Amino acid sequence: MIIPIKPWLDLANGKGTQVPLRRMHASPAGLALSSGWGDLWNADRDVIRFELERGFPTENMEFYHEPILGREILAAMAPLEGKQIFDGTLGGGGHSELFLRHGAHVIGCDQDQAALDYASARLAGFGDAFLPVRGNFRDLDGLLAGLGIGQVDGILLDLGVSSKQLDDPLRGFSFREDGPLDMRMDDRAAFSARDLVNSWEEEELTRIFREYGEERHAARAARAIVKARAEEEIATTLQLASIVSRVVPKVSGKHPATRVFQAIRIAVNGELEALETALEKSVDLLASGGVLAILTFHSLEDRIVKRFMHRRSSPFVDRPEWPEPRPNPEFAFHLPVRKAVEPSEEEQRRNPRSRSAKLRIAVRVS
Ligand SMILES: C[S@@+](CC[C@H](N)C(=O)[O-])C[C@H]1O[C@@H](n2cnc3c(N)ncnc32)[C@H](O)[C@@H]1O
Repeated sequence: MIIPIKPWLDLANGKGTQVPLRRMHASPAGLALSSGWGDLWNADRDVIRFELERGFPTENMEFYHEPILGREILAAMAPLEGKQIFDGTLGGGGHSELFLRHGAHVIGCDQDQAALDYASARLAGFGDAFLPVRGNFRDLDGLLAGLGIGQVDGILLDLGVSSKQLDDPLRGFSFREDGPLDMRMDDRAAFSARDLVNSWEEEELTRIFREYGEERHAARAARAIVKARAEEEIATTLQLASIVSRVVPKVSGKHPATRVFQAIRIAVNGELEALETALEKSVDLLASGGVLAILTFHSLEDRIVKRFMHRRSSPFVDRPEWPEPRPNPEFAFHLPVRKAVEPSEEEQRRNPRSRSAKLRIAVRVS
């Protein structure tokens, strides 16, 4: 069987390219069910591999935020014509554009209106194949139902903030340039970093710095904040960065306020709760063979994804008091690669933001 390839490479050589479609590996879910990266390839995926051997689109494209692990995500999602993908973290539309170029339909969700505006303008050429929607991915069931969509073939979450958000001092994420202490990804939200820093109890601040920032000097940072705010409200990013820098030492070349800022951002945006909710909801929203791909940037997020995927991919559960293992009622996924996929050295050199990225993939079994 011969199928045409749609993407950028057609543009590169000015004509359509055709590749043979190989037979699918036989297995209940249409996928090879043993572990190892190689097993991820089935017929569709061979097509993607074929394309990838001929170059990668970022070489010729401008990205507002380079899509991290783009080729690996393409390979996992196989976003060919007829597939429908929910990109829960649209951002600059980098990953969505890769999917659209391969012929998939994309529902691009972001809670940040600025990201939606940017990506919608950029992807306007794909017409009805791209559907932007403003919302939080933790509500993906309601968002999809509102569009009349029951199930999709892929869900991507590329967690955290975009370079664009980080680099804009007015968004209040940066400790390098001064700006209002904000950090809301969704500007309709009532609660900002300024509210958190000026109103939370010292114990609560300590807890989030420790839990979300993995900050060893959490108590010291919290105490310094409480003392400083008694004299004057903490209203800007540089004000906060300087209070924290006075009591937290610099570790491995990183700005001393890095972990405190990360913790506040996670708390303000309810990032971990949103992730946990979306993972659970993904089970019913993925069609059989559908792919869940989650890109994380720190160990807290990765731990949540890893635990979820392992719990949901064990066909059996065992307890010491049982005579034998029992079927796992939560079994829903096959893990084509058990370990997290990390960016190549080349990608890390080209895009330093990719350095801490980890990609985990799960395939829905029926
Ligand atoms: C790392 S960027 C995504 C970049 C995108 N994959 C690309 O290639 O351009 C993350 C984006 O997800 C959005 N975001 C983060 N958490 C979200 C959530 N819970 N719901 C909706 N959007 C979210 C942020 O506003 C940001 O625009």
